Amino acid sequence: MTTNNQISSAASLTAPMVGQNRLVIVGATGMVGGYALRYALDNSDVKSVTSIGRKKLGISHPKLKEVLHQNFANCSPLANVLSNQDAVVYCLGTYTGSVSDEQLRVITADYTIEFARVFRDSSPDAAFSFLSGSGADPTGRSRLAFARYKGQAEKALLAAGFPCVYLFRPAYIYPVEPRNEPTFSYRLLRTVYPVFRVLFPNQVIRADDLARAMVDVVLRQTQERQGVVFENRDIRKHDRVANSPHESRFEWQFEKGAA
Ligand SMILES: NC(=O)c1ccc[n+]([C@@H]2O[C@H](COP(=O)([O-])OP(=O)(O)OC[C@H]3O[C@@H](n4cnc5c(N)ncnc54)[C@H](OP(=O)(O)O)[C@@H]3O)[C@@H](O)[C@H]2O)c1
Repeated sequence: MTTNNQISSAASLTAPMVGQNRLVIVGATGMVGGYALRYALDNSDVKSVTSIGRKKLGISHPKLKEVLHQNFANCSPLANVLSNQDAVVYCLGTYTGSVSDEQLRVITADYTIEFARVFRDSSPDAAFSFLSGSGADPTGRSRLAFARYKGQAEKALLAAGFPCVYLFRPAYIYPVEPRNEPTFSYRLLRTVYPVFRVLFPNQVIRADDLARAMVDVVLRQTQERQGVVFENRDIRKHDRVANSPHESRFEWQFEKGAA
């Protein structure tokens, strides 16, 4: 895990858990966003969840407010519903090979940046938890389009003025429950996963574990300004720490030094 050098890494370890959190989840109809939604609704530290997406979730819950929004190239109409929120868990995204390169750029970078613009204006003290990807390259030099676009989004989020930005860079996300895989490569990865995870444990993360980490990090944020990158091994460590009664979750979040 690395902390962004634009922002202090000296987070206080004594900050209390923020009770009664109002969360926004973007992309809750998807795999990771769906797990984040269910975990947040079940979590007693969460007071309300506002889900933003273009399709209906098909569930109802006393804590859940669902907002349908079709065009993420213009998030201005969301300004009111995004006000007075404590954090967003942003899981909207798509896959290389399932859309054109231009659509991949628009969905990955432009939508994130546009959403962040409106969210920052509406809830300036809120935290931002972002589903990026392994290899994300904020320098824009990567040969992989996906890495450049995720990097572009990360860079913009860190510059947007949020007090806390958490960038999650998972490697292969194991779907846990069967789904229509976005491409042939993902169908293949799913098949070889039992072997792959033994050979390359730091190159895999379960979708539900990742989602829990993305929610937990905003529920346990401190008062300090910071930008933190969680690589795949850091996310895996969260799961071990979260299931251990002897380790503090704050240790997971803040044990590493500045980038
Ligand atoms: N799977 C992996 O191994 C892996 C690894 C690293 C990073 N990632 C990244 O993780 C992210 C999410 O993965 P996932 O498997 O959870 O994705 P997913 O199941 O396909 O869900 C994607 C979410 O984004 C929404 N979305 C996509 N295109 C949209 C558009 N044009 N307008 C509005 N909403 C849109 C979907 O809404 P609808 O339901 O309306 O389509 C859905 O809620 C992606 O950015 C992916 O690149 C994945």
